[in-house]
Amino acid sequence: MTSGPLPAAPVLAGRTALVTGASRGIGRAIAGELARAGARLCVTARDPAGVRDTVARLRAGGAEAIGVAGSVADPAHLWEVTERTMAAYGRVDVVVNNAATNQPYGPLMDADPDDWRTAFTVNVEAPLRLVQCAWRAWMSEHGGAVVNVCTEGAGHVGPHVGAYGTSKAALLHLTAQLAGELGPGVRVNSVSPGLVRTEMARFVWERAEEGVAAGLPTGRIGEPDDVARAVRWLVSDEASWITGADLLVDGGTRVRAASPGGDPGAVQRELRHHLPGS
Ligand SMILES: NC(=O)c1ccc[n+]([C@@H]2O[C@H](COP(=O)([O-])OP(=O)(O)OC[C@H]3O[C@@H](n4cnc5c(N)ncnc54)[C@H](OP(=O)(O)O)[C@@H]3O)[C@@H](O)[C@H]2O)c1
Repeated sequence: MTSGPLPAAPVLAGRTALVTGASRGIGRAIAGELARAGARLCVTARDPAGVRDTVARLRAGGAEAIGVAGSVADPAHLWEVTERTMAAYGRVDVVVNNAATNQPYGPLMDADPDDWRTAFTVNVEAPLRLVQCAWRAWMSEHGGAVVNVCTEGAGHVGPHVGAYGTSKAALLHLTAQLAGELGPGVRVNSVSPGLVRTEMARFVWERAEEGVAAGLPTGRIGEPDDVARAVRWLVSDEASWITGADLLVDGGTRVRAASPGGDPGAVQRELRHHLPGS
């Protein structure tokens, strides 16, 4: 058991964190959680109003924060984000690759090649490129921590989400590969959420929250803060011996087959019935 005085400062005091997809949902919650832990923030997403709103909330909470609007699919945006962070704060200690798309829906035999490429550009290539930017700007010399937001669904197959699941499975592999390549200075981990109450998953929880929740050992679906707290811990020094790991933040989704309550197939059934516009 470790002993000694209580920490004098919040766990991320003096650090700077870059969070993508922070205009709403899980990304906004992560930005807030890292700010409460003492970090200075750079937040990004495509929607300028959403980015401005997140920055305003962070500043209202007493944090230092800047925002840069743009798409992670654009390499120039990723470099701009890194440069603006360096210019504002002089360091990039933490990168959270949270932005993602769950399109295209549907059977893979119908998948449009351009849409498929977009899924991989946003969900896999962009996280790599942003880590490359942070590595070159700061982390190769000074170290840091990266968290990629994957999904519990990457561990199995499901109807209509083949492109999303395949790209997130690739992101899991990328996480492990980078962890091996970037140590000892930089730790790279992922979190894999189950069903969380955000826009991206609205079509499931609006129709099936009760059934999903009843089938989980924790008895409820996730909230963005559930994921944010896990990310805050993984990027902190408390997790200094953890790299290349995937932390399930899924309320017990992976083990729900053994849960006595509810309907373990509720998510899959909603996905099967869900098509854009339905
Ligand atoms: N919600 C769930 O149940 C669930 C489950 C498992 C995993 N996840 C993962 O959690 C992460 C966050 O998702 P969420 O549920 O919070 O979804 P969300 O509410 O839809 O938020 C997605 C965020 O990503 C941004 N974004 C999307 N495409 C982008 C692009 N091309 N460039 C820059 N930003 C982009 C969006 O902002 P703009 O539209 O303004 O760009 C938004 O800020 C994702 O990686 C997702 O795969 C979610």
